[in-house]
Amino acid sequence: MTELDSPHPAPQPSGDTLPSRYAEALRLALLAPTADARARAWDLGRDLVDAGIALPELSALHHQALAQLANEQALGPEALEAASVLFGEVVSVYELVARGYRDSNVALRRRNHELEHAKEAVEAASRELEAFSYSVSHDLRVPLHSIDGFSRALEEDNASQLDEVGRSHLKRVREATRRMAGLIDDLLRLARISREQLCDEIVDLADLSRGIIERLQKGAPSRHVELSAPDHLMARGDPRLLAVAMENLLSNAWKFTSRRAVGHLEVGLLPGTPVYFVRDDGAGFDMRHVARLFGAFVRLHTPQEFEGTGVGLATVQRIVLRHGGRIWAESAVDRGATFYFTLGS
Ligand SMILES: Nc1ncnc2c1ncn2[C@@H]1O[C@H](COP(=O)(O)OP(=O)(O)OP(=O)(O)O)[C@@H](O)[C@H]1O
Ligand SMILES: [Mg+2]
Repeated sequence: MTELDSPHPAPQPSGDTLPSRYAEALRLALLAPTADARARAWDLGRDLVDAGIALPELSALHHQALAQLANEQALGPEALEAASVLFGEVVSVYELVARGYRDSNVALRRRNHELEHAKEAVEAASRELEAFSYSVSHDLRVPLHSIDGFSRALEEDNASQLDEVGRSHLKRVREATRRMAGLIDDLLRLARISREQLCDEIVDLADLSRGIIERLQKGAPSRHVELSAPDHLMARGDPRLLAVAMENLLSNAWKFTSRRAVGHLEVGLLPGTPVYFVRDDGAGFDMRHVARLFGAFVRLHTPQEFEGTGVGLATVQRIVLRHGGRIWAESAVDRGATFYFTLGS
């Protein structure tokens, strides 16, 4: 709705509404078609555009003003010519605005095109990197298998021939081999997540969480952990991948509350939003490092404090991204941590 057809036009000083300004400009143009009159017509055109007056309305406005003038005085061909010059002057503002829109639309289309290209390039690079890390990890397994097998054979068959120092060295080789095998497995799992086809199903994250905590409890019967979750927490996505994500988030919550007499864990949905969360009241972390948190092999605690390889959150982030969502965290040292995520934009 515009100023012309609004039942409640914006208050204007009397005699200064757009229709009366147009009538006045027309009268002036017929009386004295000077450069000054043209400049005023230009200003008027800008104000009409700003007020959202569309071209058909402008045309009606022109006819109304012209008819009113024709009632007052006879209009000869010269007057009609001057009137159409004024109309043309006002319309030229509309034309300029339209050209501006056209130009920005062209620029916008070009930018979109460029962005599309950049996105494709990033996706291709990321696919290549995935394939690379997959094959590297895969190929590393073979020589590692050899190191593992022969060092075990050495331990089992020749340990007595080694002195204390030799046995200690061998023990370290065995430990490093085990750790490297773990890292490779994690890398492969991480790469696999990006390659897998997604299913689209309804999943109850509350049910899933209770199952995960039950399993963790069985593995550490002496721990006291309380999980607070709604009866149901419905989400849409790939059941297997969502289970991996919840497993990682809850295992972290479980691990980082291990110094508490009773650990409190909570899963839920922020009221009125599509944001899920997993919260704990454990060791927390320093928010200064939050930007690095989701990188592969990033750990904010030492293995002496809490063990792990640092791929859990990278895995969760990939799963969330693959669902079109995003993930972020809030924490403070010794005050617990909350991980928020959405699934789908
Ligand atoms: N709930 C949490 N409370 C405090 N710190 C956390 C929490 N979750 C993650 N972190 C910090 O983020 C780091 C990365 O977490 P991530 O799950 O990726 O690795 P991890 O648990 O150390 O090892 P992994 O999951 O591979 O066994 C952790 O080492 C820890 O420093
Ligand atoms: Mg973890």
